[in-house]
Parts: sequence; C-alpha cells; structure tokens
Amino acid sequence: MDIAFLLNGEPVRLRGVDPLTTTLDWLREARGLTGTKEGCNEGDCGACTVMLTDGASTRALNACLLFLPQLDGKALTTIEGLAAPDGTLHPVQQAMIEHHGAQCGFCTPGIVMSLAAGQASGEHDVNRLLSGNLCRCTGYAPIARAAEAAFARPLPEAFSPPPAGPGPRAFVEPELPDSIDALAARLVERPETRIVAGATDLGLRHTKALEDLGPVVFVSQIEEMARIETSPYMIRIGAAASIEALRKAMRQPHPHFAAMLDRFASAQVRAAATVGGNIANGSPIGDTPPPLIALGASLLLRRGEVSREIPLEDFFIEYGRQDRAPGEFIEAIVLPHEAGAEDRLRVYKISKRFDQDISSVLGAFNIVVNEGKVQSARIAFGGMAGVPKRALAAERALVGAPWSRETVEAGMAAMAEDFTPLSDHRASAAYRLLTAANLLLRYWLEDQGEPVSVREVQP
Ligand SMILES: Cc1cc2nc3c(=O)[nH]c(=O)nc-3n(C[C@H](O)[C@H](O)[C@H](O)COP(=O)(O)OP(=O)(O)OC[C@H]3O[C@@H](n4cnc5c(N)ncnc54)[C@H](O)[C@@H]3O)c2cc1C
Ligand code: FES
Ligand code: FES
Repeated sequence: MDIAFLLNGEPVRLRGVDPLTTTLDWLREARGLTGTKEGCNEGDCGACTVMLTDGASTRALNACLLFLPQLDGKALTTIEGLAAPDGTLHPVQQAMIEHHGAQCGFCTPGIVMSLAAGQASGEHDVNRLLSGNLCRCTGYAPIARAAEAAFARPLPEAFSPPPAGPGPRAFVEPELPDSIDALAARLVERPETRIVAGATDLGLRHTKALEDLGPVVFVSQIEEMARIETSPYMIRIGAAASIEALRKAMRQPHPHFAAMLDRFASAQVRAAATVGGNIANGSPIGDTPPPLIALGASLLLRRGEVSREIPLEDFFIEYGRQDRAPGEFIEAIVLPHEAGAEDRLRVYKISKRFDQDISSVLGAFNIVVNEGKVQSARIAFGGMAGVPKRALAAERALVGAPWSRETVEAGMAAMAEDFTPLSDHRASAAYRLLTAANLLLRYWLEDQGEPVSVREVQP
C-alpha cells in the first residue's frame, strides 16, 4: 500500500507499507526519530504523543495507536520537528526549561507535544490537555506553570501548525477510500474486511493481543463520514466523527453528555477514537451508547447501496453479537433534536479515576416531567449487562407516576428486575446494582436542586 504525508514539514512517500505498522514503531525503527518515546504502548501514558494536522484540526495523538495509513494526506510533527528551522525553541519547550518542567525527561517530549497541540488549536485547559500524559517524577505543578507561561503569549508565526498535507493524490488506494460509496463497494466486494476507524481498540488487538486482523480498510480519508450536522429536528453524527468532535457538538444541546465525554479516556484517545468504533465494538462498557440510547438515537447501517435504520439499543443483541450483516457498516447515528426543548439528559460515569479510566457503571437518564408527573423516561446503562441496556422495568415504574421520592424508590427497586450484573475487577455485582439504583436517586436529587457532584458540594 502506498501513502504520502508530511513529516516535520518534509514530504514522505512510502511504497508497499504494511498497513498495520504503528507510527511509533516506524518513527523509532525506520526513521531513527527516538524522541517519541515508548512507555506503555497501549494509549495510557502519552510518552509517544505526536501532533497531526489536517484540514479539520491540529491534534495530539498517541503514535502507538496510530497506523501509518492514518497519516495519509496529513502533516505529522514529532518532537524533533517542533523547534523553528533556525533552532529557536517552541514557546512550550522554552517554558518547560524556565519552569523546571522536567526531571528524568522521559515523559517530556510527549508532554511538550500535548501542550504544543493545545497552543496550536487554542485549547488552553491544562487538565484537559494533559489527561493522557503521565509524569512519574517531576509532578505536574511546574509543568502547569510552564503551560500557563507559554499560553500567555500568542504563538509566534514560525510555530504555526504545518500545512494540512502534501496535496491531492494521483490515485485512491482501495484500503483508503475517500467516499462512503467507495467504502460500501469495498465491503460488499470483500465482506471479511475489517474497518479501522480511530484504531484505539484495534491498535491494541494488533500490538498487545497479537491478533491477526486480516484485510483492513481505513475510514480516515472519508471526510463526509466524520461530519456532525444539526437540523431543527435531528442531529446526524457521522460514524467516523471523533469523540472529541462529539464532545464539542454536544456542549450546547446536551451539556451533561459533553461533560461526561471530557472523562472519556484522554485528549489523545478522544481525538482518535470514533463514535462508530465505540458502538461497533459492542462493548458493554462503551461510554457513548447509554446516553445515545437515552436520547432515542437510531443507527444508520449500510450494505452496498442498501441502508436501514434501527433503534440503537436493538443493535446490541448479546455480549459479542451485534445486528450487523457481513459487509454492513455503521454510516451514521441519528439523534432526535428539538431546537429549544428543555434538555433532561443527565449522564453519570462511575470509574476509579477521573480521567483515562473505563467505566464500572455508566448511567444515562432522560426523564421528562409534565405537571408533576413523569411523562416519559428513557434510562440506559453501561456495565450492568453483557451489552449497553435500557432499564425498562425502572422506566415502567416511573412513567405516569408523580415525580416524587416514593416513585423514584419504586424505580430503584425495579432495577433488580432489569439487571443481573457480573462481578469483575472493576466492581462487584452488588456494588453495580446498588450504584445503578442510587444514580436514579441522584438524578432526582439533582432535579430538586441538590448539589450531587463532589465538585459542587461545599463544606
Ligand atoms: C487508553 C484507552 C482509554 C480508553 N478509554 C475509554 C473510555 O473512557 N470510554 C470508552 O467508551 N472507551 C474507551 N476506550 C476504548 C476505545 O477508545 C473506544 O471504544 C473507541 O471509541 C473505539 O473507536 P475507534 O474508532 O478507535 O475504533 P477502532 O479501534 O478503529 O474499531 C473498533 C471496532 O469497531 C469497528 N468499526 C469501527 N468503525 C466502524 C463502522 N463505522 N462500522 C462498522 N464497524 C466499525 C472496527 O472494525 C473494530 O471492530 C479506551 C481505549 C484506550 C486505548
Ligand atoms: S506509549 Fe504510552 S501512550 Fe503510547
Ligand atoms: S520527568 Fe520523569 S517521568 Fe516526567
């Protein structure tokens, strides 16, 4: 397979590449660019952070979860290419020196790249930018001070992000289609082909589980599949839209959803991971299906020329089995949307760490109350069954009843009919059931104006 991209401003053309080569391995082994470090090799530490620019954005990504074809047509910057050509250090590099932001230095290239990507894109929230970067020895205070100092001044012209890529290609590789139609045709022709979207799951299956992924097709070139469009009655989320794009799109209509997505993995993983991948992997603990189900989302599936739309909850049949035929793929997710309607969605993610952690339980509640009575209720959970699942018995206990604590307690009790959760290393079955029921109470208390987040409670 042939690909072309810019590496630190220089055009690179690679012929006959193995499409499952990670950018981290290629940089270090084929190019000798060892400034990009290998720590965990699974997206958790940020030592391998690089910066990628295309027409859509400049973002920090984990090179260990980035296959080479995902670079095609884009501009990659590594720590070696961050300083200006005359050697002047990037403001983040300079500030890290002045504020003593490094001790052993192993994490430093990754931290610098995350902060530099933030400065290039105008994102200055240091907690958000560094949610995927671990430093074991310096401590984060000097690093945060360095970031503040760097961000205090506008980015000098010499450090503007590189141009988006090497320009139009003469031909399109079959494994890198540039339209949804071309993807559909490829999958009908070779239904055993596996879609690679953000590669944040598949990357690990390849490098850690050493799974043979078989033939692959990448969706990173299909701009139309990454769009999120809002109309007065619906929001259409292209399956290849990133979690970060979804977070931004949800800020206005569903701020609680957006706030939960701030805790989805890390900045680097959110910039790569797609909404379609989060659904298609069928995980019972994916963070987007419960809120999407609570909002009444449907899934647009396509095989060849034929499209069908199903309620999202019906896609998940049982653990490891989804309603998807060979050669069929998720094209988009469609959300009902009523401009100006009150947003009743609340999403609670329970995990051991605030950032970069998988949910033990995630509850999404969308309960509409009219004249003191529950008019409708859609409640969905992750982590409570083999699939993301609605709490139908709890919903039945609520609908039509007064919006009171007694009703809520009846709903909490009904959850035992809805779920028989498992015990695993994240949580016990008893903890999960109790937590799920308590989250309904939390929703009700929040609706009564009680502060329910530890970040809101004042002593
Ligand atoms: C460090 C780390 C932290 C993580 N934290 C979280 C977290 O907090 N919450 C969470 O929910 N997940 C988390 N994940 C899991 C992962 O990031 C998400 O599930 C992500 O959304 C997967 O999307 P992707 O685009 O990377 O999928 P990929 O890895 O590209 O693909 C995953 C699967 O979906 C299929 N697929 C992709 N797109 C389509 C499509 N359009 N149609 C049909 N099939 C498709 C692929 O063939 C593959 O089987 C984490 C992962 C890592 C590595
Ligand atoms: S090496 Fe740890 S995130 Fe890539
Ligand atoms: S400086 Fe040593 S790990 Fe951060």
